[in-house]
Amino acid sequence: MKPPRVVTIDGAAGSGKSTLARGLASALGLAYVNTGLMYRALTLAAVDGQVDVDDGARLATLLATLRFSLDDGEPPQVRIEGGPSGPRLAGAEVEAHVSAVARHPEVRAPMRAEQRRLGENGAVMEGRDMGSMVYVDAPVKLYLEADPTVRAARRSRDRAEGGAAMALHARDRSDMRVIPFEPAQGAVVIDTTHREIVEVLGEALAIVRARAPELTA
Ligand code: DC
Repeated sequence: MKPPRVVTIDGAAGSGKSTLARGLASALGLAYVNTGLMYRALTLAAVDGQVDVDDGARLATLLATLRFSLDDGEPPQVRIEGGPSGPRLAGAEVEAHVSAVARHPEVRAPMRAEQRRLGENGAVMEGRDMGSMVYVDAPVKLYLEADPTVRAARRSRDRAEGGAAMALHARDRSDMRVIPFEPAQGAVVIDTTHREIVEVLGEALAIVRARAPELTA
């Protein structure tokens, strides 16, 4: 079977994943699938619908009412229908509960199936378990790391939110209970602590050219 036209990018919050993933998707002419957004959409739907974030079965039922597709942007990105979208997805109420929602196997299994479907025509897949679970056979896997202080600073720049360092630290701890923070087998680890993401984009493109030249054709 032909390998998927997929690059996976995993790593912790604030490691630069989203900027890199979007840039790489544009450069390669692939879709950009931000899987964190899918967990965020389910979390916000749960908050709005007063669904207990500890109730995996009810969350799975709620997830079945959301529809994920790709829009016609450049690059194409995840579109959420049947549920909330917009700036609240990045807000504090979501940050507070998203790890709890993402913890349930009843939620993760259908999410992974949806994510595979969204990537099937070629994509840069951004998340936590893209290289280890969703696209184990991706020809290029990247794993981004950065010091927590730098990650928190990036978050507060992105979000204009107080208490970013505290919030990031708390979410790191709860995220770690969901998915181990470690590179997938075969992933290239890139430390973004002292680097601008544009530089990292150049490096990522060079890795793609070396490992999967068919993606740059
Ligand atoms: O990447 P992000 O910060 O938008 O992710 C939001 C949350 O979703 C994060 O707390 C971890 C979770 N997540 C996950 O468990 N698996 C993924 N593939 C993506 C995100």
